[in-house]
Amino acid sequence: MAEMWNPKEHSQIKESILEKYLGVWYMKITYRFRRAYYVDTCSGPGVFDNGIHGSPMIALKNAFEAWKKHPSCGYEFVFCDAKADVLRRLKENITSFLSCFESGFNSAVQIHFHECDFLEKFDMILNEAKKKETAAFLFIDPFNASTVPFEAIEKAMKGISTEVLFNFMHSDINRNKRLMNSEKTERIMGKGYDQEKLKSVPIIRDRYISDLRERTGAYVTYYTMKTPSESPLYDLIHLTKHCDGLSIMKEVMSSLSKSPHYFSNDERYAKDQLTIFVPRSRDSFFEVLKSVCGSEQIRVERLYNEIMCDDKLFWTKSSILEQIRGLLETGKIKLVSGPKRINKNSVIEILEDS
Ligand SMILES: C[S@@+](CC[C@H](N)C(=O)[O-])C[C@H]1O[C@@H](n2cnc3c(N)ncnc32)[C@H](O)[C@@H]1O
Repeated sequence: MAEMWNPKEHSQIKESILEKYLGVWYMKITYRFRRAYYVDTCSGPGVFDNGIHGSPMIALKNAFEAWKKHPSCGYEFVFCDAKADVLRRLKENITSFLSCFESGFNSAVQIHFHECDFLEKFDMILNEAKKKETAAFLFIDPFNASTVPFEAIEKAMKGISTEVLFNFMHSDINRNKRLMNSEKTERIMGKGYDQEKLKSVPIIRDRYISDLRERTGAYVTYYTMKTPSESPLYDLIHLTKHCDGLSIMKEVMSSLSKSPHYFSNDERYAKDQLTIFVPRSRDSFFEVLKSVCGSEQIRVERLYNEIMCDDKLFWTKSSILEQIRGLLETGKIKLVSGPKRINKNSVIEILEDS
């Protein structure tokens, strides 16, 4: 009998992030590009034994919504799984899933299945992703860290319109660090990574993120998935070369943090639930404001752009407005011009003695 495979709660959170992000990504890129290329390197069966949809179905569903608005775009999918049985189930699940959609969508999609380690097909996949008029999204969701070399992510991000969402299994690296030789360490963590630095999850994760930023030139955001006992399991890392993509991902996380509460950064809600933390912005909002505008007047819209395009700051547009209102109330800044109810057209200035 086939093994029962049901996703854990953190996996369902991961699917929700993917779902919300792809919803916006598909709509945007199918308006601007001629070809939407979605790659699931570790696709899984598509539907789990409890009926929950996995990443391939999430991608197809969102593509269908975009196709209704933008039918002239090409919708292409690549699904890789190393296990024959999993890929067979995926094919069956996709066939029955597609039969529920309008027939026009069925003929608009192209689906490629590969039963192999995704690395065997990776160069071909990336060449396709880099083709003209193409926007690509790669979801890399393995079972363990050792199957994804740092170099693979670096290579994928050479495509200017390619985005990556990668499940970085640092708990796995941390657990096995004593068994890793320098060759394996460099494969996972990147060239020049010193074995001695495999110390703890935060050290491994922070260094990995900063190397990704440096070597890909992309905006990199990450969200730590934790167990109910607060130990970090893995980080979902998002890479994009576009400020729009970065700001959509911030908005996705922020919208998910209200309900259900397990997405929350807010300790009131984080009690015994599994929590996913958006890393806190390290600087206070006022410090950031001072560094952006100094003693000059600034339009709120410019402030949005500066903050939204910074992958180390996690305020969304609505939380920026909230912060500005707070600073106005406490007399740290003043409103120079624009509507009384602060919006993107308001101009503000820091008060001298604050
Ligand atoms: C975590 S599951 C994927 C779940 C799926 N992405 C989802 O969200 O529904 C990992 C799957 O990837 C496959 N896999 C793991 N490493 C792989 C690799 N290097 N290449 C291809 N498939 C791989 C496994 O067989 C398994 O089916």
